[in-house]
Amino acid sequence: MSIIADDNDFKAEKNIKSDMVKPESIEFDRNFENTIRPKSFESYIGQTALKETLKISVEAAKKRSQPLDHLLFYGPPGLGKTTLAGVIAEQMGVDIKITSAPALERPRDIIGILMSLKGGEILFIDEIHRLNKIAEEILYPAMEDFYLDMTTGKSQTVKTLRIPLPKFTLIGATTKAGALSGPLRDRFGIIHRLEFYGADELAQVVKRTAGILNIEITDEAANRIAKRSRGTPRIANRLVKRVSDYALVKYDGKITKDIADEALDILKIDNWGLDNTDRSLLKLIIEKYDGGPVGIETIAAALGEDARTIEDVCEPYLLQAGLLQRTPRGRKVSPAGYKHLGFKVQNLQQSLFE
Ligand code: ADE
Repeated sequence: MSIIADDNDFKAEKNIKSDMVKPESIEFDRNFENTIRPKSFESYIGQTALKETLKISVEAAKKRSQPLDHLLFYGPPGLGKTTLAGVIAEQMGVDIKITSAPALERPRDIIGILMSLKGGEILFIDEIHRLNKIAEEILYPAMEDFYLDMTTGKSQTVKTLRIPLPKFTLIGATTKAGALSGPLRDRFGIIHRLEFYGADELAQVVKRTAGILNIEITDEAANRIAKRSRGTPRIANRLVKRVSDYALVKYDGKITKDIADEALDILKIDNWGLDNTDRSLLKLIIEKYDGGPVGIETIAAALGEDARTIEDVCEPYLLQAGLLQRTPRGRKVSPAGYKHLGFKVQNLQQSLFE
């Protein structure tokens, strides 16, 4: 697997969890994630229905000796879009080149990558909804008919050069399928959503990672970490590492239920998996905006965070957990959100009619 540019899986996390993930730990995280990344469908836990359809697509492509159709994965960050692309490459027996839309700013960036591809290879573009118009237009004929249209010369002497490309597979990943332009979305043969993981699946991820890293952990402790991982394997994996550090420094290294609870409390991760940023967001809406509705830009400015990062990283889980609600007039804390933070539900009556 070659990483051409930033693997932006790490970027969104870097922005929002600025108090948790320091810049110097990004490189470490990348190595850590690569060590534990599953390479086969069998070792990839969860996303069962998606895996079944992907297995069929991979087998069919192999039987036809054709590259796989272009694929689009969407869903919240940390659910394994890059990992799944790596599994597909491994199962197809081809190389994967990984980049992200913000790294493809100039036409020559995308042209360079496309021209470097060999037959059957996979190009993975993360945050594909952030591709600029020019890059998108270069991609259209490349995706559809495997050629590049290049222009040379100026005004009257302008010539179009058609350069053939080897057949390749584009795998796009996005946290925002709705932000993708229609023409780009239409060029993907296969579109799949990744779902949040259940606690049982996350406990399996925790145990698998602990096994790879030679960390001793009880089933109960794995369940505890899983429950506080916001349905997200990337978070589960990071918590295993942090809790293991704690167990090693304070105890004998083995992670038991009590040690897991103690470490997670110190990390200020509550029993719903919320961290300081999540709680500040809910608290702000309750205390300053009477529970909402309030616009995302206002929330972001008050928290000193980037609105897009809040939308992409923080919100999806709060929405799915039913702690936050999205209304046409902005975000509102749900009665469950009030309860979780220990506030009395004041405007329940009002919220029923909004
Ligand atoms: N690490 C991150 N995601 C994973 C998954 N889905 N299965 C196993 N290990 C993982």
